[in-house]
Amino acid sequence: KILIIDFGSQVTQLIARRVREIGVYCEIAPFQSAAEAFARMRPKGVIFSGGPASVPDEGSPRAPQEVFTAGIPLLGICYGQQTMAHQLGGRVEGGHAAEFGRADVEVVAPSALFEGVWKQGGRYPVWMSHGDRVTELPPGFSVKARSENAPFAVASDEERRFYSTMFHPEVVHTPDGGKLLRNFVVNICGCKPDWTMAAYRAEAIEKIRAQVGSGRVICGLSGGVDSAVAAVLIHEAIGDQLTCVFVDHGLLRLGEAERVVTLFRDSYNIPLVHVEAEDLFLKELAGVTDPEMKRKTIGRLFIDVFEAEAKKLGGADFLAQGTLYPDVIESVSFTGGPSVTIKSHHNVGGLPERMNMKLVEPLRELFKDEVRALGRELGLPEAFVGRHPFPGPGLAIRCPGEITREKLEILRQADAIYLEEIRRAGLYDDIWQAFAVLLPVRTVGVMGDHRTYDYVCALRAVTSVDGMTADFYPFDMAFLGRVATRIINEVRGINRVTYDVTSKPPGTIEWE
Ligand code: XMP
Repeated sequence: KILIIDFGSQVTQLIARRVREIGVYCEIAPFQSAAEAFARMRPKGVIFSGGPASVPDEGSPRAPQEVFTAGIPLLGICYGQQTMAHQLGGRVEGGHAAEFGRADVEVVAPSALFEGVWKQGGRYPVWMSHGDRVTELPPGFSVKARSENAPFAVASDEERRFYSTMFHPEVVHTPDGGKLLRNFVVNICGCKPDWTMAAYRAEAIEKIRAQVGSGRVICGLSGGVDSAVAAVLIHEAIGDQLTCVFVDHGLLRLGEAERVVTLFRDSYNIPLVHVEAEDLFLKELAGVTDPEMKRKTIGRLFIDVFEAEAKKLGGADFLAQGTLYPDVIESVSFTGGPSVTIKSHHNVGGLPERMNMKLVEPLRELFKDEVRALGRELGLPEAFVGRHPFPGPGLAIRCPGEITREKLEILRQADAIYLEEIRRAGLYDDIWQAFAVLLPVRTVGVMGDHRTYDYVCALRAVTSVDGMTADFYPFDMAFLGRVATRIINEVRGINRVTYDVTSKPPGTIEWE
């Protein structure tokens, strides 16, 4: 096991992903609770992340002192290098904000960190962090690589197995970074690269059995990947002690509800309650046009319906959730203040506070791509595992203005044509998310010899890594023209199609 101490870098999660890709289990702990995590985990090595703080500043974060005396290897990256140097008796000077940039480093002495990867005298590209810098190395340390602006690009104490880099090995812009991390984790720390999805699956099943015993578990299915993988895994562990509840709010894509029900009932034989609550949701949403009001109404109703169903089933001891690792990691905040609510997110996440049940969260340690890998391991169909994210409030937030049954029907048809064309063109997997939006605006058109006065459909497609930032997808015009023609010809109620070319920020992915 490897412990990663988070000093607030934007790319700390990437360190964890690289280590896991190597096949070694690791966890991230914020510097505030790193001492605790260190004592609990007894890791074979510790990596210090980068971060925005400045070591010479009073109150800037430090690593727990005991990691330096445990006799295990350490790797400090960027800010991690600086605090390591400072805590071991070196000097750091600075005052500039951290910033990335490409640089070439020259290897000046051998190090176990780049053995078999970099040769002495060679020059190699890295992604360097500019900002504060170490001006005096701690006792025992010497320079192993340098660049024009960074005399201590790599510095280490090979004897104590303490390594530090001013660049970021975890980002793709450092092409050999993965190999250096592998050297650290496998060769230097001695971790066996044997952490696989098959191993995780077996381990997770044991843990679920131990936690649940003979208790009853209820799991809310959203139709998304996370809850589906959690449900299949739990079912494999405890069989029919699990019941799934699928609250169908009538705001799903064309054919989606049937797909979920068929997959779970027929392919997996998982007990499933399909609650058809469309009428209730549409009744309560009638006349609601404010986006936040829509989100809150849907969230509230969802919990009401789910709770009522759980009661009907005679209650349960546990609530299963598809919580992922990124939701669990405490983010390191230096600003202190509360962040602004852009959108009230609706997930099954609000449930546990209301219902008196313990949680089963078998995906808590996984990243999204790992959940997909686990889904494949469990035999879920590729088309299901690789699907785009879909928001909890569903089509309600893709239908600005008042939601009606008629508008939802129009939107479903346009959306289905759009996605069909994307799949046919082989673009589905290149796109993070693609969907149609039905605008509450009508425009004039002419079809044959007739005047039309119908709704406008906007198409959205974005690329993204995590949904936090996004770029619009650069379709070619012929493709867009083909989709527009099909939608206008085949969907009654739409006579104009536009393409959304807004990135995020300043836009958001969804329209509401
Ligand atoms: P935005 O629109 O904020 O969306 O750029 C970022 C990502 O989050 C999804 N999204 C949601 N997911 N419940 C969810 O589970 C929600 O309430 C919700 N709202 C937005 C959105 O589809 C995109 O992937």
